[in-house]
Amino acid sequence: MAEIRAPQHLIHLSDLPKGQVEDLLSLSMRLKKRPAKPSLSGRTVGLLFFRGSLRTRTSLEAAMTQLGGNSINLSASSDFWDLETAEGTIMDGRAPEHAKDAAAVLSCYVDALAIRPKPVGTSWDKDRRDSEIRLWAKHSRVPVVSMESVLWHPLQALADLMTLRESLGELRGRKLSFVWTQSPTAASPAVVHSLLLAALGQGMHVRIAHPAGLELDPEVMASARAVATASAGSVETCSNARDAADGTHVVYARSWHSIEHYGNPTLAASQRSRQSGWTVDEKLMALGQDAKLMHAMPVRRNLEVTDDVLDGARSLVVQQAENRLHSQKAVLQHLLGA
Ligand code: CP
Repeated sequence: MAEIRAPQHLIHLSDLPKGQVEDLLSLSMRLKKRPAKPSLSGRTVGLLFFRGSLRTRTSLEAAMTQLGGNSINLSASSDFWDLETAEGTIMDGRAPEHAKDAAAVLSCYVDALAIRPKPVGTSWDKDRRDSEIRLWAKHSRVPVVSMESVLWHPLQALADLMTLRESLGELRGRKLSFVWTQSPTAASPAVVHSLLLAALGQGMHVRIAHPAGLELDPEVMASARAVATASAGSVETCSNARDAADGTHVVYARSWHSIEHYGNPTLAASQRSRQSGWTVDEKLMALGQDAKLMHAMPVRRNLEVTDDVLDGARSLVVQQAENRLHSQKAVLQHLLGA
């Protein structure tokens, strides 16, 4: 009997075999220069959103169209009902269908499933396990691609690596500084987690500035230190945006939620509102070495980053968003191409 191989999923960039990120970056650059041939004719990707999206949804749909394939976009609560994700549970609650059944059924219709799950939001220890997207991957017979889980955003990280390469060339030895930014809403650290590990894997020197109490996930930081040691990069944290921006090549602005107050929105909002001065402005950018500004968007203007920086020559934010299209075409060709 022929062995049934598990499909290759993309939940974290490290799911890709060694060297694959490099191949995908090269393919992304080629696809940006030359219009792609319609290589995915007859292939379909199902997009399942349990949270909203502007860039991810549109760029994936456009990528499939430009490659000659199709996408079916489904949004939870408007296009389908709640799905149960707990294994072995008695389904006497709101959800009439289990995600494992949905995964098996959707695998019969489409060639890949791209999923943006919604965290439960009560316990970081539980949500950080990424059990929802892993459940889909376990029960899907086609590749599952994360469109941003609780912990990782691999598609954003790939587009960001591409943007860094376009802007800086060789990344080894270059400096990237993540700067926490003010926001009235609790944002996910997935973008920072993914690019942190990807940039360190390229041998970059990374600094992370945030107020006390807004530390990143400790296990992700432990992985970051291990990757930095292996790649001769470095990672350090500081409590002052100026220290992070000093001499840097790129300031990556991003808000993220507190782990300490995860599950307690009132305390978390109060903690965020007590921070002041965590806005990226021209004075901060001027501390770098002709520093560029990156942000995965959506960005809160004049709260996270000032208008003059976002609209000025330093800003790479629209280039980052454009590169989602090209790098996702590379991922789709890799996962679905003949
Ligand atoms: N950066 C990003 O993932 O954007 P969306 O949330 O709009 O998809």
